[in-house]
Amino acid sequence: MLPQWMIEKKRDGLHLTTEEIQTFIRGYTDGTIPDYQMAALAMAIYFRGMSPRETADLTIAMMESGTVIDPTRIPGRKVDKHSTGGIGDKISIPLAPLVAACGAKVPMISGRGLGITGGTLDKLESIHGYRVNLSEKEFFNTLQQCGCSLIGQTDEICPADKKLYALRDVTATVPSIPLIVASIMSKKMAEGIDALVLDVKCGAGAFMKTRKDAQTLAKALVATGESLGRKTTALLTNMDQPLGRTVGNSLEIQESIDILNNNGPDDVRQLTLELAAHMLLSVNLFPDLDAARQRALTALADGSALHLFENMVQCHGGDLSQGLPRAQHTVPLEARQTGQVQEVNADLIGRAVLLLGAGRTQTTDTIDPAVGLSDLVKTGEEVRSGDPLCILHFNDHNKAKEALELLTDAFKITNKPVTPPELIYEIIRH
Ligand code: URA
Repeated sequence: MLPQWMIEKKRDGLHLTTEEIQTFIRGYTDGTIPDYQMAALAMAIYFRGMSPRETADLTIAMMESGTVIDPTRIPGRKVDKHSTGGIGDKISIPLAPLVAACGAKVPMISGRGLGITGGTLDKLESIHGYRVNLSEKEFFNTLQQCGCSLIGQTDEICPADKKLYALRDVTATVPSIPLIVASIMSKKMAEGIDALVLDVKCGAGAFMKTRKDAQTLAKALVATGESLGRKTTALLTNMDQPLGRTVGNSLEIQESIDILNNNGPDDVRQLTLELAAHMLLSVNLFPDLDAARQRALTALADGSALHLFENMVQCHGGDLSQGLPRAQHTVPLEARQTGQVQEVNADLIGRAVLLLGAGRTQTTDTIDPAVGLSDLVKTGEEVRSGDPLCILHFNDHNKAKEALELLTDAFKITNKPVTPPELIYEIIRH
């Protein structure tokens, strides 16, 4: 069947067969189907959607466009977590060694910052010497020694997604549920995992702004994972305010280490423990969530999770003894009135941190690992006029001035009582 006939079928709202989807993705990956035909199909999918069977077929076709890790090369129960991305979301960094300390293997392929959301790889690279691109041998050795390894996507893993994601970005076809699901799940399934836990964010600082949209995405992700034989669970979580009290690469690494030291902000600790418990349960290492949670609490308290993190950093060439990068200047942003914090707008905070230089506005930009915000207040907390709402860490006075302008609108203080928001809204299973 010619590519234009398959585009026509989807354009007219018909279902593509498994073979048609495979042929199209194979052709797009090897260059025999050009970008313009893939763009037309993506737009047809955007308008017509895909059935659960078509979405699973697309996921498999994209996964098989490149290397799929042979699960037998990683002994033990393998589980990963994927977050749809948010401001201050550093959870993967304490979570992977925590879950490994409780007995599972975590082969985690992470991403770079996207738009205003920071990326796990960028955060890890603020550790002196940390290499996100390990050779295959180094990756398997790290998993063997530490139980976890956080690496970047290689050219060999899901090349179809790499090409298609860039194309969707410039053809207004990013916000399509089947395309998002196939993109996320193909990469995760290529890791050779037995189970996956998804953290689907919703709110001002997330990709999905409403609970309903986040639910639709979570359900589609879970259905696809399960249809591919992987135990898949999604947690729907709040992203109206940033996670934790820091946003910015090295500041978030320090907060992650605080969590592994059995300290750190309550929300980061709670979400790390909850995701860990669901990951451990999903690979049947514990009889129930409570037992898994208790085990994870012990691994934080006895230092075993921190120990694995330090070992993993070493296996990746990192050296924590050199200290983390620090910005040259700091300045507090002071509250203008006394009251309760009503809003800490994650979207504006993300933009301000991007302006400071912590993220990229173009793929070629270099990031400043030291800049960002610390000591962020949380919704529901009391502040007095003059108290710091956050502390800016910066290296460039002009950038700090611009960021401060944005930040003045990011915080709302009220004299009425404010109930702190829920962090975890619901759990979605098959
Ligand atoms: N993250 C991905 O990897 N792919 C998408 O399409 C959206 C978010």
